[in-house]
Amino acid sequence: MSEVLLRFENVSKIYPSGSSHLTILEELNFSIEAMSSVAVVGKSGSGKSTLLNLAGALDRPTSGRVLFKGDDIGKMGDKELSLYRNRHIGFVFQSHILLEDFSALENISIPALIMGESARVAKKRAYELLERVGLRGRAHHKPQKLSGGERQRVAICRALINGAQLIIADEPTGSLDEASKEEVEHLLLEMVKEEKRTLLMVTHEQALAQKCDHLYLLQNRGLTLV
Ligand SMILES: Nc1ncnc2c1ncn2[C@@H]1O[C@H](COP(=O)(O)OP(=O)(O)OP(=O)(O)O)[C@@H](O)[C@H]1O
Ligand SMILES: [Mg+2]
Repeated sequence: MSEVLLRFENVSKIYPSGSSHLTILEELNFSIEAMSSVAVVGKSGSGKSTLLNLAGALDRPTSGRVLFKGDDIGKMGDKELSLYRNRHIGFVFQSHILLEDFSALENISIPALIMGESARVAKKRAYELLERVGLRGRAHHKPQKLSGGERQRVAICRALINGAQLIIADEPTGSLDEASKEEVEHLLLEMVKEEKRTLLMVTHEQALAQKCDHLYLLQNRGLTLV
């Protein structure tokens, strides 16, 4: 049996709303095996981003536990948590969150430099990743000189550079036109497989969702395997 990378145990997320509260996720139990790909679909407002934020340790559950390789993420302090995220988790969001004043190469290198990698090694690895996504020739372009699809490819490289085992993608192709959507989707899945990473992704693209190993529907505050 494969190793469980991420495990949700009775996870609930409740937001205060005026004098009452909103239960977004209720007693969620599920696991993600290492090296698998998992897609989550569901209506707008069903809690998909909330779920990803918990999985990526960007937020804490109201109750229950989120375990990464058996370690309770909720028990980590803020400093430990940000280190943990930088080392173990790569994020790809819908709208590119690249730093505008830095080149593609620099944007990709930054997480490696934060991890204490030497500038030489970080640059080498960033070039390799850029090559892999067909953007070596764009290494010195700043994000505003890149197309939407190219920026997403840079974001994928940045998510991968530190060897993060878990890649979390929230509608990674949501802001792209049809042609670049397909290209970026294929690339993300291919690279995750090639590099033996684990993917947890929210997508509205049916075709992309179906290419993943497991597909879940989030509705009525819970997950159902489709
Ligand atoms: N910080 C917050 N405080 C209060 N309510 C919140 C907060 N974040 C999200 N919500 C509410 O929780 C619900 C789920 O939000 P979430 O962003 O997880 O939905 P989603 O499934 O990702 O939707 P979409 O497909 O539109 O991105 C929404 O009703 C939202 O208004
Ligand atoms: Mg969302």
